[in-house]
Parts: sequence; C-alpha cells; structure tokens
Amino acid sequence: MDNNKTISANELSNNNPSYLETIFSIANGHFGVRASNPVEKSVTGGTIVNGFYETSAITYGEKAYGYAENNQTIVKLPDFRTITICDDSKNEFSKSELKDESLNMDNGVVKSVYKLSNKDNQSIELTLEIALQQLNNQVVGLRYEIKSIDYVGKITVVKHLDIVNESEVTDDPRKSRTVNTLNYDKAQLSDSCEKLKVTTEVSKLFLNLALCAKGSLEQSYDLGKSDSITLDYVGFVSDIGEDLNLEDTPSFDDIVKESSEFWQRFWKSSEVKISGDDKLNQAIHYNLFQLTSSTGRDGRTNIPAKGLSGTGYEGHYFWDTEMYMSPFFAYTNPKIAQELIKYRHSILDASKKRARQLGVKEGALYAWRTINGEEASAYYPAGTAQYHIDADISYAINRYYDVTGDSDFIEKYGLEVIIETARFWKNFGSYSNVAGEKKFCFFDVTGPDEYTAIVNNNYYTNRMAKFNLEFAVKLIDEFPVKSEDFGVTKKERDEFAKIASDIYLPYDKKLGINMQDDSAFEKPIWPFADTPKENYPLLLHYHPLAIYRYQVNKQADTLLADFLFDDISKNQLTREYDYYEKITTHDSSLSRSIFSALAARIGLKKKAYSYFTDTVRTDLTDLQGNTDDGLHVANLGGSWLTVVAGFGGIQVKDDTLEITNNLPDEWNELSVRIMFRGRLLEITYSAKETNVKVIEGKPLEININGAKQLVK
Ligand code: BGC
Repeated sequence: MDNNKTISANELSNNNPSYLETIFSIANGHFGVRASNPVEKSVTGGTIVNGFYETSAITYGEKAYGYAENNQTIVKLPDFRTITICDDSKNEFSKSELKDESLNMDNGVVKSVYKLSNKDNQSIELTLEIALQQLNNQVVGLRYEIKSIDYVGKITVVKHLDIVNESEVTDDPRKSRTVNTLNYDKAQLSDSCEKLKVTTEVSKLFLNLALCAKGSLEQSYDLGKSDSITLDYVGFVSDIGEDLNLEDTPSFDDIVKESSEFWQRFWKSSEVKISGDDKLNQAIHYNLFQLTSSTGRDGRTNIPAKGLSGTGYEGHYFWDTEMYMSPFFAYTNPKIAQELIKYRHSILDASKKRARQLGVKEGALYAWRTINGEEASAYYPAGTAQYHIDADISYAINRYYDVTGDSDFIEKYGLEVIIETARFWKNFGSYSNVAGEKKFCFFDVTGPDEYTAIVNNNYYTNRMAKFNLEFAVKLIDEFPVKSEDFGVTKKERDEFAKIASDIYLPYDKKLGINMQDDSAFEKPIWPFADTPKENYPLLLHYHPLAIYRYQVNKQADTLLADFLFDDISKNQLTREYDYYEKITTHDSSLSRSIFSALAARIGLKKKAYSYFTDTVRTDLTDLQGNTDDGLHVANLGGSWLTVVAGFGGIQVKDDTLEITNNLPDEWNELSVRIMFRGRLLEITYSAKETNVKVIEGKPLEININGAKQLVK
C-alpha cells in the first residue's frame, strides 16, 4: 500500500478526542460520521447530513428592515459508532483508552483500536472499522472486533440509534448553536433492524435513519482467552424527505469494496505527488480526500465550510465553494463542479428576492451564508455586505467553462446566473465623480477581508464585478436567443459593457499599488508590536469597530484579485505583496494558500514554500486551534490551488492551457493530474523539465513556460 495515503493518530501532535473526531471523520457528500469514541457517548460526535437543518428566529436586540430573519442550523443526528458492551455482571466496559486510529485513503476505511475496561479493571480490546458507500451514498458499514485482554466470560453487546441531546454551549461565532426542536419516531422492524424518522419542527424537513445488525441488535457471547468476536452492522441515511428501502442490505465487505473502487478511480484522475517531502505529500492527499468527502454531489446541496466533519459555521455554504473548493473539481471531476453550479442555479429565485430586500430593483444577490438560499448571516457588515459573492459565483462558472468547454451546460445553467448577477451590479452601483472623471462605483461594501467592513470601492469587489459584467456580455453574444428568453435586450447588453469599462479600480499612485478601498491607506496601521500572541485571532479579542479603524487584514483581499486575474506587472505585484503581507494576520484559514501561490508566481520561493507547509497541514497541525469544530475545507481546496496554480503555474488564458514551472527547491519532483477539455493530463515538474503527457484523449496544443507545444 502507498504510504502517503494513510494517516494515523500517532503522527499527530494533538490527541484531544474532539480533534481526532474531526480528523478521522469520514463522509460521502451526503452524510458524515465523526470519529467518536464508541463507548463514551460523545457530545461532539454524531452524524451530519448535508443540507439537513433546523431554522429558528434570529433574535436581535435592535432590528432593522431587511435583516436576515432566520438561523439555519445543521443538526447532529445519532452516532452510528456508539455501542454498549457489558460483562457478565451487566457492568459496562465504559473506561476506554484509544490505542491507535488510522485512515486509509486508498479504501476510505477508518480503523480505531481501544482498550476497554470494566469497573473491576478487566479489559478487552475493541477494534472498530467504518466505511461509507460513496456512489449509493446512503450506507455506512461498521465492523466491531472484540478480543480478550484479561477478561474472559460472558459479554453482552447492545447497539441502537441513540439520541444524544446535549451540545456545547459557546459564544464563539464560528461554532454552531444548539438545536432542540427535533422529533424522533423510532420503529423496531425486527430483532436485527430499527428505523428512526427525524423531523425538524420548524424547517419541516425529515429523513430516515436505520441500523441493521448481521445478527441481532442485542446479543450475548462467551469470550474465551483467545477468541475474537466480529460483529457487523449497516447504517442507512435516507435522502432528505425520503423513506428508506432496506431490502438490499450490503455486507460490510461489499461496502468496503465499493468505497475502495471509488477512491481508486478518484486518485486516477486527481493524483498529486510531491517527491521530496513525505509529510507534505501525505497532507495534500488527506486534503483532497476530505475535500471530496465533504462535497454535495446532487445539485441540491453544496460544500459546508466545515464539510461534513463538524457543525462549525452551522453547516453553511459560503463563497468558499466557488473561490477555494470548486477549482479542484473543475480540473479533476467536472461533474461535481457542475452539481455545485446547479445548486447556485436552484437558489436563484431566493437570491432575486434578497436583492429586492436590499432595495436593488433588478438582478440577484446571493446570500453570504446559507443552506436554503435565504440569508442566514445575522451580522451584515461581514455578511450580506460581502456582495462579491455574486461575482465569485460568476468567476467559478467561467472557470468551469474555460476548463471544460461545456457550452451546453453553460447555456442551460450558467447563463441565467450570469445575467442576474450582472443585473445586480448594474443596479447596485452608481456613477460618481472620481478625480474629475465619471466612474462606476460601489459604495458601502465589504471585501473578502473581514477586518475591514462597509467601505467604498473595495478593489476586489470592483475588479470582480467588472469581470462579472464582461462575462455577461461574452455569454450574451454567444447565446443571443437564450439570452432574449431571459429578457436581455441590445440596450442592456451595451449597458453591461459600458459599466464594465467604467468601473473604478482604486490605485495609489505614490505607492504604485492597487488600493484595498477608497479609505484604506488613510487609516493607521494596527499596533502589531503591542498585540500579544494570545490575542490572535483578533476577532475573539477586540470589538469589530476597534479592528475596522485600522489597516489590518484577516485574509488576502486585493492580493486575491491579483491572483485570480494575473493582470498586473511583476513589479507592481511584488510591491503589493510586500505591502499587504505586513498588515495581514491570516486569522482566516483562507489566507495562506493565496499568499503561497502568489509568492510562487513572483519567485519568492522561500515564502511560497513556508506558507505552503503551514497551509497544507492546517488541520493536521491544528494551526487555527479550532479543528475540533470541523475541517477548514476552503483551505483543503486552497492547498490544491497552491500546488496546481502556484507551484504548477496552471491557468487558462485566452482559451489555452498555460503551465509555468515554479517548483520549490525543496522538492525533487511534482506531478499532478488534471482534466482539460475532455483529456486527462499528467504534468510532471522537476528542476530541469516540465513534462506533459496526455493519459486519455487527443493531442492538445498548450503553452509550457511561455512556448506553444503540442502534447500527446
Ligand atoms: C472567513 C470568510 C469565510 C468564512 C467561512 C471566515 O473566517 O473570513 O472568508 O467565508 O470564514 O469559511
């Protein structure tokens, strides 16, 4: 087996149970199971179903018109891992010690080994293996193996779908709130099977869970000194609003086989190999494994900010999907990238409604954070004001188009989103006088950097809106008939084009750099020297207004635009990098990957490498200190972006695939697999060479290190 595709607990420095629950959680886009200790009824363990949420009214001390009305909170469902094992006096083996835990990314199996003891300190060894079906993604398989350590005698094993109600109580805005409005309806189908219908009282969603044992859900055995008892169970999670069909219960081995085949196919089209650093190589594999596990693949769900590995950020979908996660899918599994776009298309009506609430008479404004399409951010300065999400979605649609060339899909699902977002920008912005010139401006917006809020002409927002409008014009010209169906006239098309060329892009002549927003450089710089280490992240230690009045960035903002458009000179980029790096705290996990990729592009090799080593292992080292709430999924995608777009210098320009070798000195070789226009390519970089091989599909002309080349 390939060593880089396993990870075990003894390689991690943090052995906090809730941290390990996240790291060894597994998921299949539909549901995830945290790696809880099976005998300890963990408060943070359980099952998380993508898109299964409860709503509750947001309570504001002072409310104003148009504020988000309802929380949407992903709910935690019974834990499939829980089991009760008793000795011959009916005492539980309730004391436990984790001996080993590992994830095999070749077959998707997590294995946990515990020493369990009863109250007389007699012990048994429990090994739990768990795997999920990936294609028929309603199924989880569990195999428990029990051996004697120094206990011999009768044991009773009881396993049910236990309802755990407690949850953590917290003030941390990144965590989830508690839901106690779930209704459960349990049905015992037989000795070996039970079913549980879960209904959310307010959002009125339901789904069904089931648990079936190979033998019986409650059974007793005689455990001899050298006996080993194996117990198999299969769990089911229906789609939301559906019942379960339990006629075909696969065996544990069938489930592992299906999972294994899925992951083998996955690695074939997505492989990334870093030769020269095993730890980084292992980490990038982990990130891709977990990113894919986290991703809704049905067009109705998306990628929660913490994936299905934890309830942090309440299971909401953010711009994270379009800017950090979906690039990986566009380049390796376009079908999934399509489904993510379909989800955005499916919430277009809710987004149009939201634009009206904001007083914008045409177009659609996507919710900053949501599951059902409605805005769920109770803090508008760092929520709804991040209008850039509209353009982020349009950027992702363009990326999908660039990489796949799939015009049918764009006409069917992309075009309408692009037109409605372009309409939003047209009606949201206005002409204003800027240094004697009439420029199109956007007032009172928040860019990606959440430490700067409600400012005029955020460079990122303006640059992205310009792109959104230009892309609308391009698509309208390409699909004139379908555009007419959406009410587009020649006049509107020309307005889009005119506004795009008139959009104001703030630039500071003295410093020779793009300016984050109109007032950015007037503010004092944050007193970094007087800020103790323990006061980071700043958001947990300072009032937002105390942060907003300084120049301090939580994450890449102007630099993100530079990364996406690659449209400024290397000199300017170097100046800009230097300026913004000094004021960035990287308090958001979405930051370092962009700093790394840009540094690679500029040739700041040491910096690129150092940011990358942090970013790729963010969760494996608990860099942000909150991996126990769930994985930082945008960063999982961001680390791939760094490898492929940063070190690998891959981008599409003027319809052509461009590759630039920015390999770090520390690596002997890097090889990546990507798909481009129906071909599977393998690109290998070394200090001396950049090699491109077409693994599947026809030859192709691409641009390698500045020269056109036909690759086969
Ligand atoms: C970041 C946002 C991100 C959100 C969810 C915040 O900390 O600042 O950019 O969308 O987390 O990941």
